[in-house]
Amino acid sequence: MAFLSDTLARVKPSPTIAVTTKAAELKAAGRDVIGLGAGEPDFDTPENIRDAAKRAIDAGKTRYTAVDGIPELKKAICEKFARENGLTYQPNQITVGTGGKQTLYNALMATCNPGDEVIIPAPYWVSYPDMVLLAGGTPVPVVATIDTDFKLTPAQLDAAITPKTKWFIFNSPSNPTGAGYTRAELRALCDVLLKHPHVWIMSDDMYEHLVFDDFEFTSPAQIEPALYDRTLTCNGVSKSYAMTGWRIGYAAGPAHLIKAMGTIQSQSTSNPCSVSQYAALEALTGPQDFLAPNRKTFQRRRDLVVSMLNAAQGITCPKPEGAFYVYPDISGCIGKTSAAGTKIINDEVFATALLEETGVAVVFGAAFGLSPNFRVSYATADEVLREACTRIQTFCATLT
Ligand SMILES: Cc1ncc(COP(=O)(O)O)c(C=O)c1O
Repeated sequence: MAFLSDTLARVKPSPTIAVTTKAAELKAAGRDVIGLGAGEPDFDTPENIRDAAKRAIDAGKTRYTAVDGIPELKKAICEKFARENGLTYQPNQITVGTGGKQTLYNALMATCNPGDEVIIPAPYWVSYPDMVLLAGGTPVPVVATIDTDFKLTPAQLDAAITPKTKWFIFNSPSNPTGAGYTRAELRALCDVLLKHPHVWIMSDDMYEHLVFDDFEFTSPAQIEPALYDRTLTCNGVSKSYAMTGWRIGYAAGPAHLIKAMGTIQSQSTSNPCSVSQYAALEALTGPQDFLAPNRKTFQRRRDLVVSMLNAAQGITCPKPEGAFYVYPDISGCIGKTSAAGTKIINDEVFATALLEETGVAVVFGAAFGLSPNFRVSYATADEVLREACTRIQTFCATLT
């Protein structure tokens, strides 16, 4: 009898975590490494949020809570959706989990049967396909190339839908490309979804607050009220409030789905950390004034990275609307040989050679479902980004 499960054989460990670990190992061994792999803000959690957590500890809020979130937090989440997205939800339509990751996972676990298809626009966040596989479903990646700024077209979505399609996962702004769908672009996708009433929409709005220039964030249930009854709107405090370690995510949708997700959570992890829930409550209800300066900082870094990468030979880097990632195309580098003699046959080899020869850690595009590219997370100081991009430029300039 095999000890490890067949389920385990279907999934692979997160490549983004693997890159971060490799970079940390090299650093520990004394190498001068710049990590551009991790997907988290470099800011500290704001003080008012940290203070709220300390108060919660001192007030003894350290016991089990309701499985899918304390009532105060669910109420604050309802108010957030009403205030920021024009969406009306009742507390029984809200679930709170251990990070956005758990709420997405719960939804897939609660709904996927063998044979159910889940449409995932590629490039995608690395966890979507593997979570679908863990849940027993079939991921259906649909590639959106640089020609459409990494955005799925309505025709592509329409063509991917079959009678077996259960979910369409929508992520804007996107990890790994930063691409954000305009209101008109999302409207066009919603029109396709209206034609297919059996398809549910999982909107991952994790990067909602990280949008630049005059880009307007929108979410499917907000754009098309007729989709409200089959949309799960997912969000969390990790990225917007620099709270990745606190592990609080949430989702809103039809009460029967939310209840089913709660059942999965009740038999796996129970409630998300009680103290973190009080911290998230403060994040959503307290002052919001640090969001704008953070956005400005990220926008400045995006502009810096896009211009420096476009100046590198063989690299084309589109300018995304949001998040803190860029996803440059390296077609012009493929087939060349690095200064140390490595033949760059694909983006994985490019990323490995870049790390070994220059100490810059990025995640290769194949991990996200579109090659030849790599992902840069620019959630790090300007001077570090400048140095990293200079090394990338030198690396590319010496390819022959
Ligand atoms: C698109 C997207 N959704 C969800 C998550 C998960 O966020 P959390 O840290 O709250 O689990 C991430 C984190 O990288 C992400 O990039």
